[in-house]
Formats: sequence, C-alpha cells, structure tokens
Amino acid sequence: MQTTPLWPARLDHIRRDSDAPDRLVAFYRDAFGMAARELGGGLWLLDGFNRRLLVGPGEKGGQNLSAFRLSDKAQLEALRAHCTAQGLKLLANPTPLFADGFALADPDGRILAFGLPDAKFPVPPPGPGAQALPGRLQHVVYATTDLARLIDFYVGKLGFRTSDDVMQGNQVTATFWRSDAEHHSLAAFRAPKAGGDHHAYETTGWGDIKLWADHMASLHIKLWWGPGRHGPGNNLFFMVEDPDGYKVEISAELETMGPEFEARRWEHGERALNLWGGAWMRS
Ligand SMILES: [Fe+2]
Repeated sequence: MQTTPLWPARLDHIRRDSDAPDRLVAFYRDAFGMAARELGGGLWLLDGFNRRLLVGPGEKGGQNLSAFRLSDKAQLEALRAHCTAQGLKLLANPTPLFADGFALADPDGRILAFGLPDAKFPVPPPGPGAQALPGRLQHVVYATTDLARLIDFYVGKLGFRTSDDVMQGNQVTATFWRSDAEHHSLAAFRAPKAGGDHHAYETTGWGDIKLWADHMASLHIKLWWGPGRHGPGNNLFFMVEDPDGYKVEISAELETMGPEFEARRWEHGERALNLWGGAWMRS
C-alpha cells in the first residue's frame, strides 16, 4: 500500500457559495447552530464547537473548497514535498482560517486545501440553543462525471485510503475515502454533473439525531432523506436541504478502521446507500 504524509488529516472546513449568501448564512446560523461573522469581501465565517464553514458569493449550490487540517508543521511540509514529487501544481493557501498551508486543484477544478489552523480563529465553546448540539464537521462529498480521474488523484496521488466502493458491474458508482481512522472524510459519487454533493456533521449517537430532528422541526425544516443507516460507513443519518437545495447531513455511529483495512465492495442500488429503505440515487 502506498503511504503518504496525508494520514492523519481531518476536514476542518468547507466553503459554500451562493447567489444569495445572506440567506445561506442565516440558514446555517439557525439550523446548524453556528455564530456568523463577516470576514470582509462578502465572505462569512460560521462557526460553532467543532464545526465551521465559509459562505461567500458565487454560483448557487457551489462547494468548491474543502480544507483539511494537518497535525503539525512537519506533516504539512512532508505533504507539500510529496505533492511536489507527484508533479502536482501547488497553489497558495486559499483560506483565511489556515495560518499556513497550500492547495491543489482537483481534476474537476475543486480547490483542496491542506494546512494548520490560524490561532486568530480558535474553536469556540458550545454556545446556547442549537449551538449546544453536538455535531463535528466530519466529511464532504463530491459529485463527478469522471470517478476514475478522481480516484487516481485522491487515492493514487494523495494517498486517501478507500474504505468502500459501490459497483455497477466493473464500474465504480460511489467511493468512500478516509484520511484518518474514520470511515470517510471524503467521498465521491458518479453523477450527471460535477459539483458539490453534501457535507456532514458527526454527532455522539442516536439520541443526538433525535435532538437535531426536533430542532429542525422547530424551524419547520423538513427532513429530506432519512432517518436511515448507510451501508458504507454503517452510519445513522438524516439529511436536510439548505435554501439552495444543497444537502446537509447529520450522522452518528460512523465506522472506524485502521490504515491497513482493505476496501469492501457494495452492489449499486438503494440498499448500499440506505440499509433501512429508499435512497438518494445520484446515477
Ligand atoms: Fe454523507
């Protein structure tokens, strides 16, 4: 197995773009219990205990920046050297939330950042109301028309480890990658159009799913899919839609495994995506 300095890397934040960012800021503030502040230039930071994202002006439904936090300077420099040795073009740190870091453009043009958090933006303590609900930003998922190209980049070049593949004949239709012991920090689905798919907040258990669903109900936000249990990852989940129709997930009980765990295979179909019932089929 190829080893790279990627392990361990954790999803630190993503950026969501919208043609109506104010609406999105209000939604994530209220529905996902985060405090909102403008950083300048129309860019907003939403943050809470162990969860944060950037929201800015752009294409509706955009999810073009995924930022992974590394352990220390030595790991950052080792990963930078590894990416250079792989012939990848290194870009400047694209996010104000990292004090030091670099970025890559993936084959679909998404920006993937690696870095170390800037102490100017410390992790806030749990706040009042929904800000007290546990939900750590945990994974982000892409839609793509060319999974093979993404697999070559993320697994082949960067060293993400495959935990599960969903297969239709010999074609991969969804793939789940880990960068630490958690089953996936990143995943990608075959879809008619490349773009963002969803991101997820990991909670401490089934009881939290109930608390979050009751909280969504208090805001008249309908569950869009679930509750259910995914095959790959074995996690409990539900999803809601944000005002742009982009999906957001609350999750619990995500599997963990070591770096040497061998990837499993699932047959393409609803059962792979929801052991309990119907599924959101991207293709
Ligand atoms: Fe997910």
